[in-house]
Amino acid sequence: MSNDFAIGIHDLSFATTEFTLPHAVLAEYNGTEIGKYHVGIGQQSMSVPAADEDIVTMAAAAAAPITARHGADRIRTVVFATESSIDQAKSAGVYVHSLLGLPSACRVVELKQACYGATAALQFAIGLVRRDPAQQVLVIASDVSKYDLDSPGEATQGAAAVAMLVGVDPALVRIEEPSGLFTADVMDFWRPNYRETALVDGQESITAYLQAVEGSWKDYGEQGGRPLEEFAAFCYHQPFTKMAYKAHRHLLNYCGYETDKDAIEDAIGQTTAYNTVIGNSYTAAVYLALAALLDQADDLAGRSIGFLSYGSGSVAEFFAGTVVPGYRQHLRTAAHRAAVDRRKPVGYPEYRELHERSLPADGGDHLTPSQTTGPFRLAALSGHKRIYETR
Ligand code: CAA
Repeated sequence: MSNDFAIGIHDLSFATTEFTLPHAVLAEYNGTEIGKYHVGIGQQSMSVPAADEDIVTMAAAAAAPITARHGADRIRTVVFATESSIDQAKSAGVYVHSLLGLPSACRVVELKQACYGATAALQFAIGLVRRDPAQQVLVIASDVSKYDLDSPGEATQGAAAVAMLVGVDPALVRIEEPSGLFTADVMDFWRPNYRETALVDGQESITAYLQAVEGSWKDYGEQGGRPLEEFAAFCYHQPFTKMAYKAHRHLLNYCGYETDKDAIEDAIGQTTAYNTVIGNSYTAAVYLALAALLDQADDLAGRSIGFLSYGSGSVAEFFAGTVVPGYRQHLRTAAHRAAVDRRKPVGYPEYRELHERSLPADGGDHLTPSQTTGPFRLAALSGHKRIYETR
């Protein structure tokens, strides 16, 4: 099969929530020394969804600028990756398809493997585009990360959606072969269908992540991947930003390098700006790392970036992308910064109320409090159906 056309990320846009909880507020409530949050896990604040926001409203808000810029005529597939699914049967992507007015000649599907799902979606998209280079695929990663109140995971919560348009001759990043793959059956983080909050074995999850870094990198090398020295930067899955530093140090050690602090900072430093203020967005987090890198780096044209996508349970993939010359004209840096800056800080009681809120399950008619100022909102529940609204 012909491989002589480049396929990759043509456009990338993200959205996050209406509210934010600064870690200083959480620390004051629970008596934690703030250094543990700011330095120990590398988090400043977390995105908190309003009562009328969910993975669909964030996803539609992330994807709308993409269809506004490129149209939707060539989009024949939407792949929606999430850990925080809203329905056991219907893909959240179908709601987004409707909110964005995408053509009916389109397939829409939801993918799940904890935080890894969006990378599977990206690879499936590349396969579809290779088969039919005229089509584009809309890949969406959207998640609300929720742990029990007063649990160690609480400080790593967050929420965001990243939308990526995948096609030939991409304007941003060409995605390369091969991929390094790794799967291991571990119970480091999981969420049974009857739970709204994730269960996690914190230290086990860090160990499992580092094993997956090693395993996927080993396979990447065996598949003929690039040597470590060729990468200008590394986008790791960031459940909390300090994890990217732990992962890169582990990779350097595994490859026999001294772990020089400055070298790690050079490789990781520009990938954390969004995740440190948004928190864990599960499937979206590794692509928020890419957004932060592209939005901040001086000039990456022609340079290779390493991606390490990890989903607990666990599945991981290491792959490379090469940044396309001229990419900076296509970035959405101002809109990304605005998405972060527009969030309103909430106090601890408001955060706790939003956290404890769950949607009524009685099948009645329930209007949702009008809180978000974003372009899409979850307006009501009626007969067990979610009713969305566009402003
Ligand atoms: N000043 C500076 N640093 C401090 C400090 C202070 N005052 N107090 C503590 N620290 C440091 C600690 O030394 C520690 O650093 P190291 O890891 O480098 O040793 C760090 O802060 C965290 O301290 P603890 O380990 O004591 O914190 P904890 O017991 O509260 O747990 C956690 C931390 C395990 C990450 C927990 O928040 C958690 O369970 N999070 C959810 C799970 C998670 O994100 N796992 C990551 C891998 S799994 C994954 O990637 C998938 C996914 O998205 C969930």
